[in-house]
Amino acid sequence: MSMIEKVYAKARADVKRIVLPEGEEERTLLAAAKLKAEGLAEPILLGKEETIRREAGRVGADLRGLTLLDPETSEKAGEYADALYELRKAKGLTREAAADLARDPMYYGILMVKLGDADGLVSGAVHTTGDMLRPALQIIKTRPGMKVVSSSFLMDCPNKSLGENGLLVYADCVVMPCPTAEELAHIAVAAADTARTLCGIEEPKVALLSFSTKGSAKHELVDKVQQATQIAHQLAPELLLDGEMQMDAALIPEIGASKAPGSPVAGHANVLIFPDLQAGNIGYKITQRIGGAECFAVLQGLAKPCNDLSRGCSAEDIVNTVAITAVQAQAVT
Ligand code: ACO
Repeated sequence: MSMIEKVYAKARADVKRIVLPEGEEERTLLAAAKLKAEGLAEPILLGKEETIRREAGRVGADLRGLTLLDPETSEKAGEYADALYELRKAKGLTREAAADLARDPMYYGILMVKLGDADGLVSGAVHTTGDMLRPALQIIKTRPGMKVVSSSFLMDCPNKSLGENGLLVYADCVVMPCPTAEELAHIAVAAADTARTLCGIEEPKVALLSFSTKGSAKHELVDKVQQATQIAHQLAPELLLDGEMQMDAALIPEIGASKAPGSPVAGHANVLIFPDLQAGNIGYKITQRIGGAECFAVLQGLAKPCNDLSRGCSAEDIVNTVAITAVQAQAVT
């Protein structure tokens, strides 16, 4: 089974309610119909019912059995506005502004997740990453014990000798432009958790990447990765984790053995931590576009799962992201 087939099997075993704030959008409608038909999730579509039904008819999406909610007319919007006001009044949010925001589908969806009326959220076919991420950070916040929200890309590579039978987890490729050493350490620990939860990697081997391996170069950028490695060891002493190391030392057994002898990770890493967002974002796109890997993005570190799509996504991408979100929701206690 491919990684995504395993995710599908897990999602079906304990079906979760996933809210889709872009419920009037055609790829979202097609994805919702498929998710319901295949038992992967209980999708909740937000939007005007008339528009949803008209668009569904136009694209041939079967809405039977799906929950449709209009934040504009919802009787829950008042309760959500009160909750939002309580959460954000110290930051200057007024009651009036909270009432307006609670009728916005993105905020409404995030408040549904916060208050337990949905188990997770997926958006981004229309909205930007920041449109969803900022309210999610403000309202759902980080999971207890997590310092930051970040992302992992699950990379399913054609070269099955790499990582865990071709599977590699890359972090962070979406959220934190310039993490401190401490933040980088938290990203490493969160990515290991994602590798276990979503990829079924029982023993994550985490490499903190740099242009230097074990002091081969001296630079303040290298110092940051070395510090992050030390902090990550303190945060998760049981984790197989090592750094700083170059990409080839992390992945190729002979190079790992020669550049980082004795390392428990070098040559066999399956979780790769990039030193900043430029490296991570460029790195995943190289692996996808030149290396031919299939990739799936997830946010990690939020108290409840919310995930972002690329605006160029297909209906199939939305199905995959919802299934992944459902599996993350299963791990929320
Ligand atoms: N983890 C936890 N909390 C955070 C984080 C984080 N990583 N970042 C911000 N916050 C919190 C802040 O503490 C603040 O909380 P508060 O209001 O309760 O005090 C709140 O979130 C908002 O913080 P801001 O600093 O106002 O938010 P900012 O404007 O910096 O936006 C964002 C945060 C959206 C994550 C920003 O860092 C960003 O734009 N990152 C890059 C996103 C991006 O464009 N990625 C690349 C494209 S995606 C792709 O290629 C697939």
